[in-house]
Amino acid sequence: MSARIRFEPDGVEVEVPVGTNIRAAAEQCGAHLGSACGGVCACSTCHVYVKEGLDDLSPMELGEEDRLDGAFDVRPNSRLGCQSQVLKDRLYIVEVSRESRDAFFDEHPELRGHR
Ligand code: FES
Repeated sequence: MSARIRFEPDGVEVEVPVGTNIRAAAEQCGAHLGSACGGVCACSTCHVYVKEGLDDLSPMELGEEDRLDGAFDVRPNSRLGCQSQVLKDRLYIVEVSRESRDAFFDEHPELRGHR
């Protein structure tokens, strides 16, 4: 089974096996998602807003909740990309937060012109 994830505002879409996390999916399709800690729930640079499919992600655990407490502009549909696995065969729409895009371009200054 596979899921599709569309990343905004990059406008890229990727198909991944069910069980993949949003951070890994972003890496596959070149979406501009930050990941300063490398995906171990030790930062909040992979902060996203899940516009479609929020209920079909792996549930939020305590560690993620704690990390999100320290994130900027947290909303009811906020998740950390590295902690959120897609669980259903469906389309997910994910908006990369400003915080996360900024972190991405700090990590990859050579890509800044492609914003
Ligand atoms: S990449 Fe650091 S918490 Fe997700």
